[in-house]
Amino acid sequence: MDHFNLKKGELYCEDIPVSAIAEKVGTPFYLYSEATLTRHFRVFEEAFNARPHLVCFAVKANGNLSILNHLAGLGSGADIVSGGELYRALKAGIPADRIVFSGVGKTREEIGRALEAGILMFNVESQEELDVLDSVARGFGTRARVSLRVNPDIDPKTHPYISTGLKKNKFGLPMGQAKEIYQRAQKMEGIDVKGIDCHIGSQLIELSPFVDALEKIKSLVFELESMGIELKYIDVGGGLGIRYRDEAPPEPDRYARAIMSGLSDMPHTLIIEPGRAIVGNAGILVTQILYTKNTGDKRFYIVDAGMNDLARPSLYKAYHRIIPVEDKESDGVLTDVVGPICESGDFLARERPMPDLRSGSLLAVMSAGAYGFTMSSNYNSRPRVPEVMVHGNTFCVVRKRETYEDLIKKEVVPDEQVWRSV
Ligand code: LLP
Repeated sequence: MDHFNLKKGELYCEDIPVSAIAEKVGTPFYLYSEATLTRHFRVFEEAFNARPHLVCFAVKANGNLSILNHLAGLGSGADIVSGGELYRALKAGIPADRIVFSGVGKTREEIGRALEAGILMFNVESQEELDVLDSVARGFGTRARVSLRVNPDIDPKTHPYISTGLKKNKFGLPMGQAKEIYQRAQKMEGIDVKGIDCHIGSQLIELSPFVDALEKIKSLVFELESMGIELKYIDVGGGLGIRYRDEAPPEPDRYARAIMSGLSDMPHTLIIEPGRAIVGNAGILVTQILYTKNTGDKRFYIVDAGMNDLARPSLYKAYHRIIPVEDKESDGVLTDVVGPICESGDFLARERPMPDLRSGSLLAVMSAGAYGFTMSSNYNSRPRVPEVMVHGNTFCVVRKRETYEDLIKKEVVPDEQVWRSV
């Protein structure tokens, strides 16, 4: 359930008409509902109450400081994948001992910073990464707490770009190599083996891949125990899907029960890394129709948000519901909702039944809170759009609109003075 509702034909975010915010901040912009965020986090968190657990929100889904800060206040940890995400998470007030560091390509520098901060755990994805982690930790005179991320070779039945738990994917260690690497890790001076981790993909709408992956993890945990390797944590990753159109993903409660029942005979602390399930439906992208165009074959609504602002439709052919901010009772005509970018792949929706609207009308692109702003870019030299948070009947611009100056502020045109020899 979210707090974006039509009231008397007008879209509201909590208690504010979306059009009123558009008037104040201009378009396009991302709009988040704090109450929705709270609700989604609490429902997720409480679903796991029956056992020791830690929810580590996946920062890559939405890294805005105000979002992270709000989640920190609700008790969330963070799943990070870069030094930048570590920086954000700490700045937002997420305690270091609630941060786990995932990703296949951590640099020595990133590892060093995470060690300095004292994060809970590194989710290690290769033998070579383990060696580097050991060496950096020894250099710091410390031991890095580690989970090994294994690849259970399970089909998550989602978009191929967001499948991560198949043998052919770059993620995790093959199950067949895991035992040997655990044994090596145990002997390393700079490594403190703490857990096991997997993440099989994103936007999963069935439970069975999660359950199947967990079965494989469990049998590995038993084998490790029989070898004298005791683990404290089992990290099941993120991946629970949301409804964009008519999908029927399991509710967090059913997801949690399925996972917990798989682990009922095990004392481990569970770590879960949800991203989309927390923020996806807590945010929308508000855009304005600049022009309408009818080519005879087709109707286009050309809007002021493009693929640089929301990449998901172009990148994954992802479906986002698009509704007029002021509801129009008219029959839908098949329309392409396209952005201003100079690429045919720049669309927010294709052949979508849309009511008759004029230029100047506002549209809400729904379910855009996850992987929306975080995947946006400056392509076509477009300043990135602001992010706005609503709290009841008040709002706050939590990231300002970029300016043209922001676009060029790191750039240098070389002249005699600045050419340097190596
Ligand atoms: N943990 C790890 C290690 C991950 O790689 C991810 C997402 C998550 C947790 C969070 O997954 P979630 O609960 O949000 O499904 N850009 C794509 C999604 C990429 C997901 C990458 N990893 C999209 O827009 O659909």
